[in-house]
Parts: sequence; structure tokens; C-alpha cells
Amino acid sequence: MISRRQCLAGLGAAILAPAIVARDSLPGYAQGLDLAALPGLRETAARKGILYGAAVRGDLLSRDPAYRAAVVKECGILVAENAMKFKPIRPTEKGWAFDEADATLAFAEANGMKVRGHTLIWHAALPDWAKATLASGGGAALLEQQIRTVMGRYRGRVLAWDVVNEILEPKDGLIDGLRKSDWYLALGPGYIDRAFRIARETDPGCQLVYNEWGHESYGTRPETILRYLEKLKKGGTPIDAVGMQSHLHTRWNVNARQLSWFCKSAVDLGLEILVTELDGDDSELPDDIQARDQGVHDRVRAFLEAVAAATVPRQVLTWGLSDRYSFMNAPGRREPGSRAKRPLPLDEAMRRKPAWLALHNFFTGL
Ligand code: XIL
Repeated sequence: MISRRQCLAGLGAAILAPAIVARDSLPGYAQGLDLAALPGLRETAARKGILYGAAVRGDLLSRDPAYRAAVVKECGILVAENAMKFKPIRPTEKGWAFDEADATLAFAEANGMKVRGHTLIWHAALPDWAKATLASGGGAALLEQQIRTVMGRYRGRVLAWDVVNEILEPKDGLIDGLRKSDWYLALGPGYIDRAFRIARETDPGCQLVYNEWGHESYGTRPETILRYLEKLKKGGTPIDAVGMQSHLHTRWNVNARQLSWFCKSAVDLGLEILVTELDGDDSELPDDIQARDQGVHDRVRAFLEAVAAATVPRQVLTWGLSDRYSFMNAPGRREPGSRAKRPLPLDEAMRRKPAWLALHNFFTGL
């Protein structure tokens, strides 16, 4: 039996507390707004022809009903946070593991959502057996097999694939700022063009994306990315879009001028601009929740405005939906004993917060 007191306490947590906490943490100009009463981001974005969505984890979708309901309410497009990466989908040479990827796709389709594929060729999430294959001359076959098998399985059902991810790392000192990855070491710089060509053959209707980080940063990184895009386009590589991860950090301001320049230049090359992994690390901000949420809100807003000054991104995804499951709060990503980060549109209790409002205002203001 649940006592009356327990029942009231439960009600308080479920009904009263959310509105109060969410309002308290809103930026001054938005205080008094009842965020919970506004439509989902998927709806607001769709009115402007934009797909809004988030990276999701299959295990959580099946075990956390509040998270699942929030995903359905807010998202018009999903990307599997890990399930389609090399190691999760092919942990051993003969052991393909499609279950979570299959389930994520089925979930999206059942809820009328689109899907992004992430990611076919990346230096990370490579199992040891694949590294050994790359090191011993089997790289070309491995690359082709990976793309044909994974992309082929979901052919016609994935709107856009991140064919390659994080291929540049100027510090490695290689030509064009390329990263010294196992793929590069095995196949040389041509592996990137090869990956795109195989991808185009495998699913000709799919948008092919080069996904990268740091387009909003200061320094030479955005220009290095742009020069490489120019090279790919000149060489006839079948690339359609640039995915900007957009992991913002409140330690730095968004370099709005350079970001707009980058987006405009990429569009001039015939590429579409996508926002693929947006979130905001608030670890450098004071403890006060309102100040932190305001900081993340401001970065998200500045970022989106700088992009929109050049082009309207047709896909905007955050890297997760709720702070409860942000990868930034995973062990190893956060100092032991430090406070939990608040990088995403919903807080730990699935309540809308200022970062959510930044997205809402961006979509409605277009
Ligand atoms: C991250 C996931 O969120 C984590 O769960 C995983 O442990 C490591 O990868 N850029 C990317 C994503 O392109 O694939 C990364 O995802 C986050 C940074």
C-alpha cells in the first residue's frame, strides 16, 4: 500500500517540481514561460522543413519509458549513438551484431522518424581484430566489406550516412591535415574517396556525409576542413554534405564569423550543411544552475545563428536528448567527483531547459 504522504511526494516530484525547476533555470527573458506546454521540437522544426532529432541508445529506449516518451515527442530523426559503429556492429570477424541497430531503425520507422547512419569509417571504435587486419594488408577488402554490409543492410531506409568521421588531425603532420589513423596507415589518403565511391554504389539514394568536429572553433581548423572539402569535390568524390558535430564548450565562444564563412564556402562548393551532434559542455561555468544553463543556451543560440546566416541546416541533431544520458557524463568523460554536466535540451528528469528553448526559438524564428 502506498501511504497518502508517499503519494503526495510522488505527485510533487511528477507535477509540481518540474515546472518550478524548469522556470527557475530559464534565462531572465524567458522566465514565466511554460515550456511544457509548447509543441515538440520535431513539430516546430518540421514547420520550417527541418528535421530535429537526437542520438539515442537502444538499451535505454527499451528500459526507460520517460526517455522513450521524450524521444517520441521531440525527435523527427534519430541516429544510433553507438550501435552502427564498427566495433558494436562487428565485434568479432565472423560475429556481426545487428540487433541494436535493427531495433533503433524499427523504432524510428514505427514512430514516423527518419534515421541518420553513424558512422562507417572512423579511427575509433575499431576492434583489435580489425586493426590487425588493417595492419596486415587486408584494409581494402575490410573497408569495402564494412560499407557494403552495413549500408547495404539498411539500403533505402537511412536518409544520410556519415561515411567518414573525424578524418583530419593537423597535429599528426600528414598531407592535407589528415589523421594518422589505422585506415590511413593501411590505405593511404585515398581511403576517403574510396569509401565515398563504395557508399554511393551501395545506396545511391542516400546522402553521403563527411562528419567532423571544430567548425566553430578559432584557429585554422575550419580552413583546413574547407581546403580538404575543396580537394574532394575537385577530385570528383561523391560527397553531398558536411556534418558539423558541434560539441560546443562554454570555455570558448563560438567563432561566429569564421563559422558563417565556413558554411557559406561549403555551400558554394555544392555541399549541404548539417548539425549532427550538438551539445554544450558547461564544466567551466559556475555551480549556479541558471548561469550554466544560460551559458549553454547562449552558445547553442550563437552557433545556430551563425550557421543560419549562411544556410538553413536541414538536419539538426543533438548528441543525446536528456542530460541523464549524455556521453559527457559517462565515466572517463568527467572528472571523478565533479558535478554532472547539463549539455542537452532536457534535464535529468526529462524537463525542457534553456538549451531546449534555444532550439525552439531558432526553429520558430526562421
Ligand atoms: C561517443 C558516444 O557518445 C559514447 O557513448 C562512446 O563511448 C564514444 O563515442 N564524436 C562522435 C561520436 O562522432 O561518435 C562520439 O560518440 C562523440 C564524439
